[in-house]
Amino acid sequence: MSQVRMQIDGKEVEAAEGTTLLEAAERAGISIPTLCHHEALEPFGGCRLCMVEVESRGWAKHVVACVYPVEEGLIVRTRTEKVERIRKTILELQLAHAPHSPQLQELAAEYGAIADRFESDASFCIHCGLCVRYCAEVKQLDAVGFIDRGVNKEISFLPEIAAKECNGCKECFPLCPTSYLQAAFVLVEALTFRGNGQSAE
Ligand code: SF4
Ligand code: FES
Repeated sequence: MSQVRMQIDGKEVEAAEGTTLLEAAERAGISIPTLCHHEALEPFGGCRLCMVEVESRGWAKHVVACVYPVEEGLIVRTRTEKVERIRKTILELQLAHAPHSPQLQELAAEYGAIADRFESDASFCIHCGLCVRYCAEVKQLDAVGFIDRGVNKEISFLPEIAAKECNGCKECFPLCPTSYLQAAFVLVEALTFRGNGQSAE
């Protein structure tokens, strides 16, 4: 695989063609915050927290680092004033949904995000999709999926699969940036399982 040369935050970096800016930055020891990225999963680009500024031939724009491919001669800036402002706003929007998430609180402290800037809408799930994609891509089970769209979008366990598979797995639980996933599982289990791995009639 051929290599491309770029600059990230002033540092000369070499990266394999076909990899992403996020991967190149991580290999160079430059940290970019993420909420929906997992190295075992296909790039998703959902949360936008990994936004960075890129400059090519004198033109600058903002891109999502976890899906944007490396490119010869690219100049990448991961912590400009505007990038930090974008991340702060994204975190404030997420905090309105999940104010008690330790991961969000930690990021909020780093970016100066204000927890109550937006009206609280404690839906708890921030739609990062980690649970859904992990179950589909790694476990190939689809025990959990998204239902509905837009503001009504939410995750839902499929009782007939979850009853058989989830108690022995639960690998998605620690991936969730909020406590919602586990709560949703406990609820569906209480409503539809017997606690012995069998689904209710
Ligand atoms: S339940 Fe958690 S892991 Fe699943 S999409 Fe929502 S925030 Fe992400
Ligand atoms: S980590 Fe890149 S969009 Fe979520």
